[in-house]
Amino acid sequence: MTKTTYKERVPIVDLSTHYKLIKDEIDEAISEVLSSGHYILGKNVSSFEQELASYLNVKNVISCANGTDAIVLALKALDIKTDDEVITVSHSFFATSEAIALVGAKPIFVDVLENDFNIDPLKIESLITKKTKAIIPVHLYGQPCEIEKILEIAKKYNLFVIEDCAQAIGAKYKDKSVGTFGDIGTFSFFPTKNLGAFGDGGAVTTNNNNIAEKIKKLRVHGSSKRYEHEYIGFNSRLDEIQAAILRVGLKHLNEWNLKRQEAAKYYTSLLKDISEIVTPTIKPNCNHVFHQYTIKLKNRTHLHEKLKENNIETIIYYPIPIHLQKAFSYLGYKEDSLPITEKLCTEILSLPMYPEITRDIQEYVIEKVKEVVT
Ligand SMILES: Cc1ncc(COP(=O)(O)O)c(C=O)c1O
Repeated sequence: MTKTTYKERVPIVDLSTHYKLIKDEIDEAISEVLSSGHYILGKNVSSFEQELASYLNVKNVISCANGTDAIVLALKALDIKTDDEVITVSHSFFATSEAIALVGAKPIFVDVLENDFNIDPLKIESLITKKTKAIIPVHLYGQPCEIEKILEIAKKYNLFVIEDCAQAIGAKYKDKSVGTFGDIGTFSFFPTKNLGAFGDGGAVTTNNNNIAEKIKKLRVHGSSKRYEHEYIGFNSRLDEIQAAILRVGLKHLNEWNLKRQEAAKYYTSLLKDISEIVTPTIKPNCNHVFHQYTIKLKNRTHLHEKLKENNIETIIYYPIPIHLQKAFSYLGYKEDSLPITEKLCTEILSLPMYPEITRDIQEYVIEKVKEVVT
């Protein structure tokens, strides 16, 4: 890519370049599915589930239609329902809490840690009541949360743990993959994710065979035998084309995650002299896979706008915390109830990040950042 081309526009992710680099493999995989005449729950879905299970080192992977359904399926499998409470973060994509509300339960929001944007384990216990059934930590931006501390709390109070790994496939805590610590892990294969489909997709992971069996039924109308229904379930299946695409991607995932890590390291080195900008922290024992490279600074909105004028796309993940969203106004949260979460929403900015980003592009982005923040 020449400087002239990229100076025209730097996207936050570059999915068309991504496709071009694996075009032959993807086209062949899609064409095989099309010729097979088998499009739903076929050999690609079961092979992908087995391959992902062995990649993550977990007993069961059950694919589904998207990462939101994965959380809903997890909650349903654990029989979480009306009047139950589930502790989670407000600093995440809306879907994490939406899924809790979709099964009729109540999200209880806990603040996050300022340095890694993830759930603050020290603030969980005071929120536990008789109604609490589960904790859903999110491994945000690709960095594992302090999962061991969460597991300890869950054990003490007999709570389930569902890890939302939508942004962190391949991330490890103490050499163990996220999504294999809790009772259930949930993943999204939205196209921009570290392992992305060319459409929607998701998966649930669990080492518990009974939970796995229930989820397998729940994703197809609560049934394991045609026209016999044990539960009220869903239609939430990954299709064969997406599974075939994901099987190709999975073979490249480690290499892509390494490239993201190298790009993150380079951004951090380029930004090291700008005292106004806080670069991402990598916590001990964490293998951060940099779904996002998120910086913090006081004049974030100004920088966001100036970069936009230079055709550099940056995104605020997320500008309004979930507890202050209109959809959750019925929960009665007021401003200042989660001070770190609310402060972060005003300071964060995610820079362009994808495996194919070149050093030239990164240098250009930071050159423009330095014109605004010195
Ligand atoms: C943290 C988190 N949880 C859940 C989801 C939902 O995944 P999907 O878009 O596949 O439904 C996302 C997707 O962006 C996410 O980032």
